[in-house]
Amino acid sequence: MNPSQTAQSTAAIESLLAFWADGGVDAMLLDVAVDRIEAGKFVPPPPPARLPAVAPTPIRPGQPDVGVALAKAQAAAAAAQDLAQLAEAISAFDGCSLRFEGAARQAVFYRGRPDAPLVVVGEGPGAEEDAQGLPFVGRAGQLLDRMLAAAGLTDQVFITNTVFWRPPGNRTPTPAEQLICQPFVERAIALVKPKMLLLVGGASAKSMLKKEEGILSLRGRWFEWRSTTGEMELPAMPTLHPAFLLRQPAAKKRAWSDLLTLAERLDRPERPA
Ligand code: URA
Repeated sequence: MNPSQTAQSTAAIESLLAFWADGGVDAMLLDVAVDRIEAGKFVPPPPPARLPAVAPTPIRPGQPDVGVALAKAQAAAAAAQDLAQLAEAISAFDGCSLRFEGAARQAVFYRGRPDAPLVVVGEGPGAEEDAQGLPFVGRAGQLLDRMLAAAGLTDQVFITNTVFWRPPGNRTPTPAEQLICQPFVERAIALVKPKMLLLVGGASAKSMLKKEEGILSLRGRWFEWRSTTGEMELPAMPTLHPAFLLRQPAAKKRAWSDLLTLAERLDRPERPA
């Protein structure tokens, strides 16, 4: 190829990549998510024959199984005495494979009030969240903010997710990934001490409430969320994910009704026990 042909083909490739990126395609995925935690460990494919053979190295430090990762997460979360320490513990945690698969930049922990009466739990960070290190700052997050503002809840929220690293290609986090991150989510709730939870999207609601039903059936109903140890119990309301609402604007009225129900209960003075 001469230099002018090379330049043309580079321009064509760049243009094709830009076309896919505009359409939201920013990762290459298999048809079915590979649960590398369940699989036990990830061994990269052998190098192509024409490259000098290099001993295969695990992509992430040895991670024998979910039980070991969970025990590590429990110990790290329990040791954190405040949100700053918890943020450090999450950043240092290497037991969730998402950290080595989907996240390009960093762990995404929380934004909002550290003593908020309402904890909002989403599914997992996306590309924008990964870039900024804050949850719900992309298009879905902007819609969530508008909805919270309309319900008068802007200054009343602590916002986090069931997992702290972006799943590759924004796939749904697996139950094992959510389980491993759960001690950190529960420790955050224990430190914030909210009055109630808003569970945003099916993957959040199912994981937090240990339910199998879909979000269309769970949303708008009150559940009692209970921490793994049984020490904390809080009213929890599942609602539709703003990313779903961006695709299905007609469903906004259902999410709006959920938020009003929640805001009304949040405002209500607590009855003496
Ligand atoms: N969707 C989520 O569930 N969480 C985020 O932080 C961003 C998008």
